[in-house]
Amino acid sequence: MNKETGSDPGICVDTPALAVFLNGSILYGVAAKVTKDGKTVSSASDLAVKTPQKAATALPKAILVFAWLSLIAEVVIIGTGGAVRLTGSGLGCPTWPTCTPESLVPTAEMGIHGVIEFSNRMMSMVVGLLALVVLVLVWRLRATRRDLFVLAAIVLGGVVAQGIVGGISVLTGLNPFIVGFHYVASLALVCVTAAFLVQAYSPVGPRVRVVPSWFAGIAHATSLVVAVTIGVGVLTTGSGPHSGDATAGRTGFNVEILEHLHAWPAYLAFALTIVLVVAAAVRRLPVLGWAAALLAVELVQIAVGLFQARNGLPELVVGVHMILASLLAAVMTVVLLRMKRAAPAE
Ligand code: HEM
Repeated sequence: MNKETGSDPGICVDTPALAVFLNGSILYGVAAKVTKDGKTVSSASDLAVKTPQKAATALPKAILVFAWLSLIAEVVIIGTGGAVRLTGSGLGCPTWPTCTPESLVPTAEMGIHGVIEFSNRMMSMVVGLLALVVLVLVWRLRATRRDLFVLAAIVLGGVVAQGIVGGISVLTGLNPFIVGFHYVASLALVCVTAAFLVQAYSPVGPRVRVVPSWFAGIAHATSLVVAVTIGVGVLTTGSGPHSGDATAGRTGFNVEILEHLHAWPAYLAFALTIVLVVAAAVRRLPVLGWAAALLAVELVQIAVGLFQARNGLPELVVGVHMILASLLAAVMTVVLLRMKRAAPAE
């Protein structure tokens, strides 16, 4: 096993130029000077062009369509869930699963808060339905595309669990830790759905790493720092004005200190992502596009974060910050997964 590429034995690698050959066909490369039969290939992108990739397994189009809809719905529900918090509608429907002890739906006297909270509950039905459709569609492929089947099952199970956690958050009077967990679990579901799409667009079969191990190490470290940023961000919200409604519990932590503790790892993640982008550009790695996308989302997210912190946390901007965090997590997931590609057909 090659330490840098994680490729199979028998593959010839001209380190540090990481070109790999498998059964006579070029697999990948991440640097210059790769030779086979004495020939030189100049870069990873040259290799990518010459790589006889296995044709992507043709999945029924409906799977891709519903998987995309599922991803979009999961991001939208983060927005509607955010609207619940930011408008102080957390207990707009004071009971769960019914809206009031007497009524399944909000009543006129409950006003706009009831409507907002109930809309979010309805949105969870849409998310659940889409997750179910995706699972049903991949059911017949479960023998050949076990990866997709498992991911689809995790999403559906997660959505059901989220319905219960949402209920617990209402029943506990919007305990900030439960509300925060509810949000983080939503982000995790966005990541799993993004992973489903990456897999759905990838050929079946074994995968090998297409980046050097140090690059993979930095990418994983970046994801850890992003996770810490999100975690502390959630605690910041749980300690500030937007934790649910005016009477909802707060963590009791000092919100100003948390704001700083939240911003520092955000800047560190940004710095690490710059390293990833520069390294990917210099070494012409195939993840350059996604690393650049990550950097772009981080840039906007940091700008939005700074703006909201300096302008009294306007609701709409805080909502954008919440949604952007889910997109950032999704793009981070794609960067990690795209560090591996399918091995060519033998
Ligand atoms: C990688 C960059 C960043 C990410 C991924 C991120 C993510 C998050 C997340 C997930 C939350 C919690 C949302 C919720 O629980 O509903 C949050 C809250 C917050 N973030 Fe960020 N953030 C980033 C950068 C920043 C920066 C640079 C600042 C500037 C100080 C900032 C300021 C805030 C503030 C003030 C809150 C609390 C908002 C409230 O009280 O509701 N963020 N962030």
